[in-house]
Amino acid sequence: MKLGNKRRYLLAAAGAAAMFATVGGARAQDVKIGFILPMTGQQQSTGKQEAAAAKLWMAQHGDTVAGKKVELIIRDDAAVPDNTKRIAQDLLVNEKVNFLAGFGITPAALAVAPLATQAKTPEIVTAAGTSIITEKSPYIARTSFTLAQSSVPMADWAAQNGIKKVVTMVSDYAPGHDAEDSFAKEFTAKGGQIPDHITFPLANPDFAPFLQRAADDKPDAIFVFVPSGQGGTFVKQFVEKGLDKAGIKIIGPGDVTDDDLLNNMGDPILGTITAHIYSADHNSPANKAFVAAFEKANNGMRPNFMAVGAYDGMHLMYAALEKTGGKTDGDSLIAAMKGMAWESPRGPISIDAETRDIIQNVYIRKVEKKNGQLYNVEFATIPNVKDPIKAGTIK
Ligand code: PHB
Repeated sequence: MKLGNKRRYLLAAAGAAAMFATVGGARAQDVKIGFILPMTGQQQSTGKQEAAAAKLWMAQHGDTVAGKKVELIIRDDAAVPDNTKRIAQDLLVNEKVNFLAGFGITPAALAVAPLATQAKTPEIVTAAGTSIITEKSPYIARTSFTLAQSSVPMADWAAQNGIKKVVTMVSDYAPGHDAEDSFAKEFTAKGGQIPDHITFPLANPDFAPFLQRAADDKPDAIFVFVPSGQGGTFVKQFVEKGLDKAGIKIIGPGDVTDDDLLNNMGDPILGTITAHIYSADHNSPANKAFVAAFEKANNGMRPNFMAVGAYDGMHLMYAALEKTGGKTDGDSLIAAMKGMAWESPRGPISIDAETRDIIQNVYIRKVEKKNGQLYNVEFATIPNVKDPIKAGTIK
């Protein structure tokens, strides 16, 4: 009897060990990438673009890296930071993801930073653009952009091209403040005047009263930052108020002339000059191949700068896994990412070894019609721009 019991126990223990071995074995083979994106709500165009780009990357590069099977998990946070945090916790604890990625807005990226640190899990920021994000955890790396990266070159261009008086209009949250601050410092240092700084809410803004206030100042241009997805409404109200006819220009980082919305803005937007990190019209073989594949896989949808952020985020994660030989601990992966450089559809990019932030070209572009379609056509390049706020190049 005693022996029988013992045998049964041993068999059960062996069975359990075998089961754990299988589970553990399967897990050791897996790499899980958890993208948290706004698939619904006000920022849903960002979620749609980023998810499509991440899927395209996998369709083109396969689901095996360094001998490990990669699984992509996409979760919707509707750009509500409390959701982002709860989903990140679930992905870390229950899915045991090796990477957290995405984040359509700055507050969502910030909400996850302490969890990335605690779990020692890389947080790859592929959409949000406030300078400070990468300083919030040593496990954060960014493949999107910072607002200052485009706003400072925009200020230089404006100051050198006869624009003397500018009213700033930005969404009242962190990236808007970065855009406004960095533009204003650079533009006034170059002799420009800014008679008014206008902010409006991030959620459901009605721009009309603010546009009236800006028009009353009779500026040469309005410097605008609205997050991806809101540019169409801004331009519509700008035109309805007759500001284009009054000779006022729109300038700013290229979020306002987003490739996702540009074609619907109509002829009044022709000639608008912005500074930005990506145009679907970027003239390189790598970009032409990217745009063609993206449009083909997505019913003709044109990729925007958010799509490129996610595509490069996937590149970064795959390349880091290759470099570590499939090691998935956060310290090895982040170390592998530092200093990494490659050619993106947007042009050459790298991950700053010191800050883990992206270094990239900024392009000055003009909205033009090509084959009946509106595009941001790049005509000047400022190469290898580091985030000016962290670099301390603006005071
Ligand atoms: C951000 O919240 O950081 C953000 C969102 C959309 C943009 C730019 C920045 O287009």
